[in-house]
Amino acid sequence: MDKIYLDHNATTPIAPEVLRVVTSVLHDQMGNPSSAHSMGRTARVLLDEAREQVASLIGASSSEIIFTSGGTEANNLALLGVAFGVGKSGGHIVTSQVEHPSILNPCTQLENLGFVVDRLRVDELGRINLQALENCLTESTLLISLQHSNSETGVLQDVKKIGEIAKKKGVLFHTDAVQSVGKIPVRVQDIPADMLSISAHKLNGAKGTGALYLKKGSPDLFSPLCGGSQEKKRRGGTENVAGIAGFGKACELAQKNITSRECSRLASLRDHFYQLVSSLISGVEIFGDLENRLPNTLNLGFEEVDGDTLLISLDMEGVAVSTGSACSSGSGLPSPVLTAMNVPSEKINSSIRFSFGWSNTTAEIEKAAKILAQTVSLNRAGKSCVKTSKR
Ligand SMILES: Cc1ncc(COP(=O)(O)O)c(C=O)c1O
Repeated sequence: MDKIYLDHNATTPIAPEVLRVVTSVLHDQMGNPSSAHSMGRTARVLLDEAREQVASLIGASSSEIIFTSGGTEANNLALLGVAFGVGKSGGHIVTSQVEHPSILNPCTQLENLGFVVDRLRVDELGRINLQALENCLTESTLLISLQHSNSETGVLQDVKKIGEIAKKKGVLFHTDAVQSVGKIPVRVQDIPADMLSISAHKLNGAKGTGALYLKKGSPDLFSPLCGGSQEKKRRGGTENVAGIAGFGKACELAQKNITSRECSRLASLRDHFYQLVSSLISGVEIFGDLENRLPNTLNLGFEEVDGDTLLISLDMEGVAVSTGSACSSGSGLPSPVLTAMNVPSEKINSSIRFSFGWSNTTAEIEKAAKILAQTVSLNRAGKSCVKTSKR
């Protein structure tokens, strides 16, 4: 059975060009970039090239890129790095209720150590209230960490305005851009952020690599992963040279391919899918802001259907989707993101995230919509729901 992959916010397929780079480095370049001999120097050159490619994608300079093991570590480095590098117990951090667990969990750890954390609410569309952000800043605020886009709904926050507020108040601003980089153009010139997190596997790179952008002139971060002097002592440990070289290639490809034309094509694919689904199935609801969102993400609720059962039924039919975030699904808890958006629990339990990717075709999504209609119909325990004519 040909699989239809509609779960690109969980992870993306590795691009063939990236795979070639990763395998050739693993096969031919065994050097440690910290070694002084020629094999080490060759590995160092690979890291330097990748650093340029990653920086170039976001309009940064290569000296502003710290390689990490992924988005989680980049987020941890930003939060713990600022809390212990700049602040002290009692310092204040502002985040939101809809952040990824790699932001929320370190915040809880910091709270246990005496830091004060405010988790801003969002409105029913999933957007942060900028006035509430401004109102909660105090003399002790060390850091604002608010996401660029949400993994479950695709809702984009107004990071430009958030950065301006942070600047005005002299507070550091970190944004988790893991879901945005590689799907839409993200340039640090347009966002007054001091730090920004990226993950390779969300943009057709390999898993286990990512980066934190740290703006030139920012204060020194505490390094939660201390060891050798790699990454200018900001992240100890021998670098994942093959993964990082592939990450660089993935960024080079993204820079070439993510044009406004391609973003519109992806958004058209998503909208075509939604139109088909809503013409074939009754009781479908979209969650999240329709104006400000990623072009690839669609979070839908299906009346009288259990989302987890639907996910499994779709999987059996060869369609891969998600409920909640990949990290919180399986926890048995309703999605904290939709809960924060005030979505009633029965609707949350019926929700499915469809996240499209560059390689999805019109034929695939039309097939997926038909399979979905049949599956929802079966899951509604005999109640007829597949409509025969368009709305
Ligand atoms: C918004 C967001 N931040 C961070 C992460 C974690 O990234 P990684 O899987 O590279 O650790 C994810 C992963 O799903 C994410 O969606």
